[in-house]
Amino acid sequence: MNPKMKKDLERLFSEVSDNYELVNHVLTFGLDIYWRRKAAREAAKAGGSLWLDVCSGTGEMAQYLSRQADKQVRIVSADFCLPMMSKALEKFSATQILFSLSKANALPFPDHTFDLVTISFATRNINPRRDILLDTLREFWRVLRTGGRFVNLETSQPSAKLFRKLLHLYARLVVKPVGSFLSGSPAGYAYLSSTIPRFYPPEEFSLILKQAGFGSVFFRPLLFGVSAIHTAIKETES
Ligand SMILES: C[S@@+](CC[C@H](N)C(=O)[O-])C[C@H]1O[C@@H](n2cnc3c(N)ncnc32)[C@H](O)[C@@H]1O
Repeated sequence: MNPKMKKDLERLFSEVSDNYELVNHVLTFGLDIYWRRKAAREAAKAGGSLWLDVCSGTGEMAQYLSRQADKQVRIVSADFCLPMMSKALEKFSATQILFSLSKANALPFPDHTFDLVTISFATRNINPRRDILLDTLREFWRVLRTGGRFVNLETSQPSAKLFRKLLHLYARLVVKPVGSFLSGSPAGYAYLSSTIPRFYPPEEFSLILKQAGFGSVFFRPLLFGVSAIHTAIKETES
């Protein structure tokens, strides 16, 4: 991602940070809460002691992870947008979670550090091009220890044509105007809604995860495939 594109994206996310969670709940009729909890339960199967939530935003996913985590688990919440991160900072006590202001494709951690890496509703934003997405997924793979787990919650493409069409219409006719109105950021929701139809069908995203180095990959469609949870395991060292 070139520096200008990164700055533009950071500005967009800063603009939507104030009531980002509320807008999500309204636009998904609260389903995003249920999906995050489900993804957190799937993620917690990783066990271990060090978890990373990338593109963590206001820290909602990190919060659900912390509820699933055993006492010994430390969670790191990483994002490149300070206004989003400050919302997350309000949620946690100083000891609960560690914060890292960092870019998803250049994480400041050594190889083989984490037992778990999660990302929610952000993968489609790091997908302006397939090669950039692939590089970023390789970065997640790099910081995972062997046997570690990557869990991705994202909007998806329903396999039934009718549902797919309805989802794309909903993104254009509801997410964009309603999100713009509620957040006060037309540019933010023009961008966020435009990335929904552009994201991959779940089978294709599974292949991209394999291309990034993950061994076994499986996914669970949610609400007829409107969203999906992908789980990918790092099976080998290289
Ligand atoms: C749509 S929000 C999702 C936030 C959160 N994961 C959730 O489930 O609500 C996308 C987040 O990803 C962050 N982000 C986008 N691209 C990023 C990148 N390349 N590196 C780090 N953070 C990024 C944004 O700052 C924003 O907080």
